[in-house]
Amino acid sequence: MGFAEYAAQGQRLATALGVPWAEAEIHLFPDGERKLRLPMPLAEHVVFCRSLDDPDHKLIELLLAAGGARDNGARRLTLVAPYLAYMRQDIAFHPGEAVSQRIIGKLLAQAFDAVITVDAHLHRIQRLSQAIPLEQAINLTATRAMGEFLARECPRDILLLGPDGESEQWVAAVAGAAGGLDYGVASKTRRGDRDVSIELPAVDFDGRQVVLVDDVASTGHTLAIAARQALAAGATSAHCLVTHALFVGDAWQQLKQAGVENIWSTDSVSHPSNCIQLAGLLAGVARGIR
Ligand code: R5P
Repeated sequence: MGFAEYAAQGQRLATALGVPWAEAEIHLFPDGERKLRLPMPLAEHVVFCRSLDDPDHKLIELLLAAGGARDNGARRLTLVAPYLAYMRQDIAFHPGEAVSQRIIGKLLAQAFDAVITVDAHLHRIQRLSQAIPLEQAINLTATRAMGEFLARECPRDILLLGPDGESEQWVAAVAGAAGGLDYGVASKTRRGDRDVSIELPAVDFDGRQVVLVDDVASTGHTLAIAARQALAAGATSAHCLVTHALFVGDAWQQLKQAGVENIWSTDSVSHPSNCIQLAGLLAGVARGIR
């Protein structure tokens, strides 16, 4: 079951699972509250498919959907959320800060019996179940599909660049899945939402085509700055490959102005750069949910 803005991906998942597809109906009241209506009758096990970009209203709607489904007889609820929001605030960086990862994780664990996501931003924890306390909290990775995409689309001598230490896990896996591409990892200092600086790794960029690999592109500043610096260091071209294409505001223009030629992403978040579909990966695991 899904929601209008993510219907294409939800339908592909339903087809891959061989189950019927239906859409929840949302009414937005003038005061900003929402009413949700589920298509009846419900199956005993309902799989909700929705990514949590632009997360706040989607979270509320998912809580309404889960509660409504249980009230109407569903006994097992699975959430497939290829992009999971609130995973980056995983510690209190300053006194008094709420640890969103843990708080939102608990909320999801109360509403659903199983949660499946892709390349969640797990930096200081190893398992998704440490954030979402469920036996079946499953974090898949799109890095294999991303590596295979690069192996198909790009020459063998491209250089992959992770823009910060946190990206190492993804860039290394993508490089491996593409058949052993060269890669380097930059280091990043973040001073604000749109204020980051990057120090390139000691790698020879001269004459190389560089593909920047990261899990999330939000404002695009991280990738734009890394691209600018790689080009200034002698790279002949810069391209971006991300799992979650949030691309808020003028992110796309930022990247184009920085000289980025191609922008590729998975369909975890709907965006014109989507070129890697995740339905097969998600269905492979959703099929086994008890
Ligand atoms: C943060 O650690 C993530 O991996 C991304 O690097 C970050 O979210 C990108 O943000 P932005 O596009 O706003 O620079």
